[in-house]
Amino acid sequence: MDAIESSKVAEAATFVQQNAAGPAPRVGLVLGSGLGALADELSQLRRLPYASIPHHPTSSVAGHAGNLCLGELGGVRVACMQGRVHAYEGHALGRVVFGVRLLAELGCGVVLLSNAAGGIAERLYAGSLMRIDDHINLMGDSPLRGPSARGPRFPDMSRAYDAEVAEACALAARDVGVELLSGVYAGLLGPSYETPAEIRMLATLGADAVGMSTVPEVIALRQMGVRVGAVSCITNLAAGRSPEPLSHTEVEATAARVKADFVRLFTAWVQRVGGVA
Ligand code: HPA
Repeated sequence: MDAIESSKVAEAATFVQQNAAGPAPRVGLVLGSGLGALADELSQLRRLPYASIPHHPTSSVAGHAGNLCLGELGGVRVACMQGRVHAYEGHALGRVVFGVRLLAELGCGVVLLSNAAGGIAERLYAGSLMRIDDHINLMGDSPLRGPSARGPRFPDMSRAYDAEVAEACALAARDVGVELLSGVYAGLLGPSYETPAEIRMLATLGADAVGMSTVPEVIALRQMGVRVGAVSCITNLAAGRSPEPLSHTEVEATAARVKADFVRLFTAWVQRVGGVA
């Protein structure tokens, strides 16, 4: 992040601190397509629309509300991004990660991300929850491209997804009786869904699920030294695995169906991570 972007994030953080009184958040959450309902579970909820926060980009995608929500979840202070912006909306990746940089600036030492994704691996079905254990960046760009005023120039990605946070996710899933699978997430630019040939290519490359987000955010968070965990909600079988055409309507409908399990898993995960954050 260059010095100008860094001062924009600092200005946004000052605004949030002035407009949402209370102790600093320790765990950050990023809620993907159709998964924003978790924010309604916060107690002492303070909701700040992205449009009100200086320099914060805003999303145009259905199912992405666009609020920063501060409050408590399971007794842990959290800052929760209800909706995110994507590269395919036209934002440079450096802008796409503004929200997670703000979470770090506010004090979050751990960030848990979620997304909607297509299932490539045979064991994944529409409605399953997949912990992301690693990713493949196929966006052709990096949020770290450009001058770097803070953090390492060449950050290590060999353990991008924190082992302890991942273990906490498995334990949380057991706590609440939710089935949790795990795998590798490939991040593509979109916004068109993939062709069946592209899905066969991604399977060969080692990807289990595919989506259009998360990867830039994880890269930026790791560069800032924030510990990361992530879960994909598999909203559909990837292209070519089902005779049905893919649609955002299906993505939102499956996310709505999985919502209750997702909320229970993330609440239990935050509680467990709150102990180590
Ligand atoms: N491909 C890419 N992104 C997605 C998909 C998919 O099948 N489902 C939800 N987001």
